[in-house]
Amino acid sequence: MIMGSNTLMAMEGFVVCLVISREVLGAAAAAVLQPPPPMYVFGDSYLDVGNNNYLSGPNVPRVNRPYYGIDFPGFPTGRFSNGYNTADYIAKKIGLAAGSPPPYLSVAWSSSLVVSTALTIGMSYASGGAGILDSTNAGDNIPLSKQVQYFNATRSKMVAAVGSGAVDTLLSRSVVLIGAGGNDLSAFANAQQQSDAAAFYGSLMSNYSAAITDLYTLGARNFAITNVALAGCLPVARVLDAAGSCSDYRNYLADRFHDALRSLLADLAARLPGFLYSLADSFALMVDTFYDPQASSGFTDVASACYGGGRLGAEAECSLNSTICANRDQHYFWDNVHITQQAAKQRAQAFYDGPAKYTTPINFKQLVQMTAA
Ligand SMILES: *[C@@H]1O[C@H](CO)[C@@H](O)[C@H](O)[C@H]1NC(C)=O
Ligand SMILES: *[C@@H]1O[C@H](CO)[C@@H](O)[C@H](O)[C@H]1NC(C)=O
Ligand SMILES: *[C@@H]1O[C@H](CO)[C@@H](O)[C@H](O)[C@H]1NC(C)=O
Repeated sequence: MIMGSNTLMAMEGFVVCLVISREVLGAAAAAVLQPPPPMYVFGDSYLDVGNNNYLSGPNVPRVNRPYYGIDFPGFPTGRFSNGYNTADYIAKKIGLAAGSPPPYLSVAWSSSLVVSTALTIGMSYASGGAGILDSTNAGDNIPLSKQVQYFNATRSKMVAAVGSGAVDTLLSRSVVLIGAGGNDLSAFANAQQQSDAAAFYGSLMSNYSAAITDLYTLGARNFAITNVALAGCLPVARVLDAAGSCSDYRNYLADRFHDALRSLLADLAARLPGFLYSLADSFALMVDTFYDPQASSGFTDVASACYGGGRLGAEAECSLNSTICANRDQHYFWDNVHITQQAAKQRAQAFYDGPAKYTTPINFKQLVQMTAA
């Protein structure tokens, strides 16, 4: 057989790669040879990678259509983004090269597919529009409590396949990523009749506590949890103001959520043996980024939606008729609620091993390292 020069060059490249990767392996060989931890993802549209594609109903937020995914290699997947989302970039950071594990509802038709996926890379249960409270956008998403039930069903199938000992071991070194609360706060702020804020935070935290405790009971140990970002500065909130200013009230609700969540997690860690967590502060990251967007991160527009129409790109439905900005990597917001893949990448970077002020008490990288120890 005659090898063409392309084949030879490819082979040389292969040899070079081998040499480099052996060097990279070097001292850390043992750690590198350990496969990346599976990741199980819960929450809302910031993390959803397509579960909502499988929900029916006229009001289900579904984005498996152009121009969502315009920068995603291939096709619109159901990510609320122009490309990858925060779950994808965090997955890549922990070593899952393809990004987020797949949506549960895309594999749920096959028990063996559920098992093989859950045992190797994990699973995503996140659903656009979902809240911590079942009542938030009820009927049009998978609420957090039901996401936990789906995880329970997944775990039962894993146990049936490989036994509970192996599943407990696997889960104890896996990562649970959760991002929820934004839709609950938004529903609370949008309500015509303001209900009692203290009671609202009370039920929010008791429901969140129940969900996290259930996951712990089912074997999860390592929790990477994001707070709610500057909700009052989303284009959809700014456009409510004649001058396009951020809503101080909505930002206050998000700030208060952070305080409540921080003490909830500290309480859980004190009560549940082996419970580890990292609380990521997307609120603080956004405050810092918006203070000087260009210097900190190269964003030239942190107020308006890239994709949309009307004032701040936030008034029109996102359709094939809507305009799309050309410089998507310089926009913070993709549509009137969701961030661009560039902003998602910045978040993952900050939460994984960025400045200490963006994670409490440890960062995601330390969380993963503790699971491997
Ligand atoms: C959530 O909180 C409400 C009000 O406190 C409660 O009635 C409901 O049972 C809770 N749901 C879950 C799943 O814990
Ligand atoms: C998981 O599902 C089983 C079987 O339906 C049920 O008995 C158990 O209470 C569930 N566990 C949690 C933590 O939800
Ligand atoms: C797109 O524009 C066309 C022509 O102006 C209009 O007829 C159609 O309703 C628009 N479609 C959407 C989804 O806005």
